[in-house]
Amino acid sequence: MAVLPIREHPDAVLKEKAKPVAEFDDELQALIDDMFETMYAAPGLGLAAPQIGRSLRLFVYDLKEGDDHPRHTGVLINPEFVSKSGTQTGEEGCLSVSDYRTQVARANKVAVRGLDRNGKEITVEGEGLMARLLQHEMDHLDGMVFVDRLSSLKRQMYLKRLKKRIKAEAR
Ligand code: NI
Repeated sequence: MAVLPIREHPDAVLKEKAKPVAEFDDELQALIDDMFETMYAAPGLGLAAPQIGRSLRLFVYDLKEGDDHPRHTGVLINPEFVSKSGTQTGEEGCLSVSDYRTQVARANKVAVRGLDRNGKEITVEGEGLMARLLQHEMDHLDGMVFVDRLSSLKRQMYLKRLKKRIKAEAR
């Protein structure tokens, strides 16, 4: 297993629509193990394949047990939403977006159908923080990061900060 480097927004791979996983082979198993290790090392609650430079439709997650929810952990491959309901607004951050967290509007309850690491069909349901996590990771598979969900004014403020940071790092 290995901790892989995490790609930073605005890396091009984070903007691509990722391709479905076709082979459930040893290479995929190793990739999933590496993604878990990378997520725990970061540390983060979720990690999608584009974030480590692989444009594939899968993500891993581990949301620890909280006051209002059990532990949710696993991998979802080629996932699709089967339902979305309600609304919530809460703070969000991303391992690919340094030094920036902000409020993002999301559905409050979702169900996602996909495959597990053996290619077996599974449905994962989430409410509150788990629903937010699932929607955040699903966005990564479609080439979006949470800042793409902000109002244009907030997005512009973020992009200004990002430009400043890239300039400072180039010095
Ligand atoms: Ni993220």
